[in-house]
Amino acid sequence: MDTSRLLAGRTRKVEFSGIRKFFDMAARIKNPCDLSIGLPDYDAPEPVKDAAIAAIRAGKNRYTPSSGMPELRQRLVDQLKRATGLDRSILITSGVSGGLTLALLATMDPGDEAVFLDPYFVSYLQLVHMVGGVPRPVPSYPDFAFNPERVEAAITPRTKVLMINTPGNPTGRVMTQPEVEAAAALARKHNLVLIADEIYDKLCYDGPNPSPMALAPDHTVVLGGYGKTYGITGWRMGYAAGPAWLIEEMTKFHQYTYVCAPSMAQAATLAALDTDVSGHRRDYAAKRDLVCRLLAPRFAFERPSGGFYVFPEAPRSYPSATAFCEASLAEGVIVIPGGIFSGRDTHFRISYATTDENIHRGCEVLSRLAQR
Ligand SMILES: Cc1ncc(COP(=O)(O)O)c(C=O)c1O
Repeated sequence: MDTSRLLAGRTRKVEFSGIRKFFDMAARIKNPCDLSIGLPDYDAPEPVKDAAIAAIRAGKNRYTPSSGMPELRQRLVDQLKRATGLDRSILITSGVSGGLTLALLATMDPGDEAVFLDPYFVSYLQLVHMVGGVPRPVPSYPDFAFNPERVEAAITPRTKVLMINTPGNPTGRVMTQPEVEAAAALARKHNLVLIADEIYDKLCYDGPNPSPMALAPDHTVVLGGYGKTYGITGWRMGYAAGPAWLIEEMTKFHQYTYVCAPSMAQAATLAALDTDVSGHRRDYAAKRDLVCRLLAPRFAFERPSGGFYVFPEAPRSYPSATAFCEASLAEGVIVIPGGIFSGRDTHFRISYATTDENIHRGCEVLSRLAQR
């Protein structure tokens, strides 16, 4: 049967996540030391679980308004008003992935271009392809900084969107205030939509996460999430905050696709907003310090300031980062080759969202392999 005629051309542009392929290989390893996980190792706080169960029992099992539960949206409106002085429109999304999809659907016509830094979160490249757009990744090695000249050189008359991600996946880098100002200035100057993915904003260790929201308010949509902060990635909760002209169009597409974010998860997120996660932040800051101390003698890397990733250079004695990650896998340690997040296969991603024991075991193996 000739299925190629039946499948849309975009299926050929979009690839299965390379992380999944690597996980499948890793599934064959006994007792692995897993430094690849992209989510917190802690569970949802008890009051948040209780709130989800109570919401189900109270009958909050039906559709909510497409834009989200009014109480939750109001909390966000108030929070952002306090932080920026602005009245932002809010859409409660099915995870940040939902927000990314809707933002791109609402802004990109086929052939339009989206600019973002390389390395990037894997979905950026694939989602831009899914909407028929052209991804324009801008290399940011070796320090992963947002270099305004390099970014501006990638902007053409077809560019619609500039995407930033701070703290970043896979680098853990938090953008500086001048970098965020430069991104906002480029969005204003070239009349672009600035999509700011701030999913890790509550996991910042060396200071607050700078946001472009108030710097280019008419151009910026901030995508925030709850999954990583509260250990509820499976509940699919996020939000988009931005100017009414854009949030309204995203809400229109939301009505016909996701319809609404999960109702009980929205109710429980209200409880989550009253839960203190600063203990987790402190734990992860200590894990960041630990992983940096253990890697420093053998690896070159930028010290991360947020999220739970570090992105070191693979030892040059290996032909590629993939070859290094395969050697590591053979020793039972799972790390992800940088080629999955980048046009270059020279670095690898470690997630330190795991036990200190795993961090010690994994770094010991990686350091030993680096000496080969
Ligand atoms: C930078 C970044 N953006 C978005 C997402 C997707 O988040 P969600 O699970 O809320 O869809 C992730 C998940 O790993 C991420 O790392």
